[in-house]
Formats: sequence, C-alpha cells, structure tokens
Amino acid sequence: MQYPPLSVYVHIPWCIHKCPYCDFNSHEFKDQNLQNNEEAYTNALVKQIDNYNLEPKRSIHSIFFGGGTPSLFSPKTFDSLINKLEKTFRLDKNCEITIEANPGTFDKKHFYGYKDVGINRMSLGVQSFNHNHLKKLERIHNPEEAFNAANLAVEIFDKVNIDLMFALPNQTLKDVKNDITRALEVGTSHISYYHLTIEPNTLFYKFPPKLPDEEKSAEIFDLITEELNAAQFAHYETSAYAKKDNQCLHNLNYWNFGDYLGIGAGAHSKLSYEGKIFRRSCFKNPRDYIKNANSHNFYDDEKLLSANDLTFEFMMNALRLNNGFNQSLFEQRTNLPISIIDKELNLAKDKKLIIQKNGRIKPTLLGQNFLNELLQIFLKD
Ligand SMILES: C[S@@+](CC[C@H](N)C(=O)[O-])C[C@H]1O[C@@H](n2cnc3c(N)ncnc32)[C@H](O)[C@@H]1O
Ligand code: SF4
Repeated sequence: MQYPPLSVYVHIPWCIHKCPYCDFNSHEFKDQNLQNNEEAYTNALVKQIDNYNLEPKRSIHSIFFGGGTPSLFSPKTFDSLINKLEKTFRLDKNCEITIEANPGTFDKKHFYGYKDVGINRMSLGVQSFNHNHLKKLERIHNPEEAFNAANLAVEIFDKVNIDLMFALPNQTLKDVKNDITRALEVGTSHISYYHLTIEPNTLFYKFPPKLPDEEKSAEIFDLITEELNAAQFAHYETSAYAKKDNQCLHNLNYWNFGDYLGIGAGAHSKLSYEGKIFRRSCFKNPRDYIKNANSHNFYDDEKLLSANDLTFEFMMNALRLNNGFNQSLFEQRTNLPISIIDKELNLAKDKKLIIQKNGRIKPTLLGQNFLNELLQIFLKD
C-alpha cells in the first residue's frame, strides 16, 4: 500500500474566555497559570512526538497548531515543537505550517516571532467585524482589533485565513456584506465561512438565541458565495473559499482522506500501517493528558477501521469538496475497490445528489446543499 501524505495537528486547549457557541476542546484558564500550563503542556507534547517511531520514516506534508487559542503561547514553544517534529520525521520542502490566532490575543512581537520560527500561514478567528455580533458571541476583541490583527497577519504571513460565521442572531444581508467587504479590504487569500450551529454542551444550547430561519440563512449563504466568487475566491469546500493556489493544504489532506497524527489533548489520529488503517484519540482533558504523558501514556482509544467505517469516513470527507474526488483516490486511500459502493453511488445519482463522469465523483449543487442526506446513503450498519 502506498502511504498517503502525512499531516500533523497539534492541539492547544486553552482560551481566555469560553465562547457561548463553542464545543471545541477548549478551557478557560486564569492568567497566572499560563506559564505553568504552557511549560507542562509543551513537555507532554514533546513526549508524545518522541513516542513516534514510524517505519519507514515518513515526511510531514503540513502542520496545524489549532485550538483553543494557540496564539496564547510564545514563539519559543512553537520553535521547540517544530524542531522536535523535524527531527522525529522530516518536513516536506514546502511544508505548510499554520497557527490559529485570536485577534483578542494580538501581539505584534509574537506574530513576527511565529514567522521567524517557520510558521508560514495564520488562521485568524475574526467571526465578524460587527460590534453587536462580536458582543453577542462574547468575543474578547472588537471590530477594530480584528481589523488591525488581520492587516498585520497579511503583512507578515504568505498565507492568511480569516474565520467568519454567518446566520448570527439578528444578522441582516447588509451586515454580512459589510463583514465580507472588511475581510476583502484586508487582502486575505482564504476565508472559512461557517454557518453558526448550536452545539449541545454550549451556553447557546442552554439559552438559545433567536437565529435567522432556514430561508434567510440560505439567502445569506447565496450572498456570501456570490460576493466571494466576484472577488475571485473559489468555493472549494462546504465552508472554504480561496484565491488561486491558496487552498488550505492541511485541510485538503483531511478531505482527501490523507493520514494525520493528532498531538495533544483530545487530538485524533488516522494512520495507515501495513495495509490497515487505524484511528486513535488522546486523553481529552488537558490535566489527564499531562498526567498520563509522564508515564508515556497518551491514548484513551484505538480502533482498526472496518470496510464500512472506511467507506463512510472517506465519503464524509471527500464529498465536502465541491470538485469531489477520483475513483482511484478512493481505492488508494481505503484499499477497497470502488465497486464496493456501486449500489450507494447509483442511488445518489438517481437522487441527483452526485454526478459520476470520467472516473470523477462530485456532489451536485443539490448534493452540496443536502450533504447530510447524501452522506446518509453511505452509512451502512
Ligand atoms: C477551533 S475554532 C479556533 C479559533 C480561535 N480559537 C478563535 O475562536 O479565534 C475554529 C473556528 O470554528 C468556528 N466555530 C467554532 N464554533 C462554531 C459553531 N458553533 N458554529 C460555527 N462555527 C464555529 C469559528 O469560526 C472558529 O474560528
Ligand atoms: S476562542 Fe475559539 S476555541 Fe476558544 S472558546 Fe472561543 S471559539 Fe472556542
């Protein structure tokens, strides 16, 4: 079996304030603990990287420092992590290295420091440039701070992504247009535009805000795609828009069902090894993760993926791409013949959710809009 590209995700699980909509593995910490947290946690991450002994030695295609709020940590920490990864594996010549940053943690020296240690892409969690929406989302930054941080990011990094959210409480089409105008003014090359979802275990779930209805949300979504297309951003994945040659290589590797190592609290890995594909997850709670790392114990779950898991997980990722995938990629990445899903593909075609032509399978516009219904077809018991 030919190995797929290998990416590394490193999770930094702390934030200054827990946003009421956020269901990620992120925890508030008190300022005075930051240094201790950073040191103890980084030591645990280094131990986990040290624990890898992949044969044959594989090179790393991309690294993503995500969170939480990685921009709370110092450039020195990322320097030691990148060095450790470089020594343990090899970094591809053009390895994409992304850091997620919150504009509320904006620090000019840190931003330049991140670039100096080899980070070449920044993903900035702006969410909106509108004062009222930022307040409702309990963000720790205001529109001006977001704009300044985004401008500096574009000045420093070759590639910059801005995260925005839509279908926010009381959001109008005009508000959305203003957010897009501001993001384009900054000169970013990538925008991730997420539909606000109300997740269980969040404050918004407990006290739901009034959100735009389905019809209004669809209208907003159409406006976003129209405006960004007009600005030469291609809508290449459910929530992602990029200028030419600026797609996120790290996320593309997930969507193309590549391999990835998840380092840090709650991080997941998917790894091909000797013709089989495994998934495993790290201890979720940062304290448990740090404690267990002392005895070189990192994972609380490991699973060999079955043929049904593989077909569903491949589809769940690859059908997010508006341009779909080649049948040969399915066979390479799952080690299964495409004929194993003939029945499901025919059903999806009959329902006009996908098209299959010259070996390429891609979702139709209807399939993109009803992705969950499309994926249900590939969910076997
Ligand atoms: C893991 S978060 C990290 C970004 C960073 N911590 C920040 O918020 O500035 C990545 C992105 O997911 C999006 N996101 C988080 N919760 C969401 C939700 N409930 N609905 C839609 N998008 C969400 C936000 O746009 C956020 O920037
Ligand atoms: S800053 Fe980002 S990761 Fe942290 S709670 Fe808010 S959305 Fe979640």
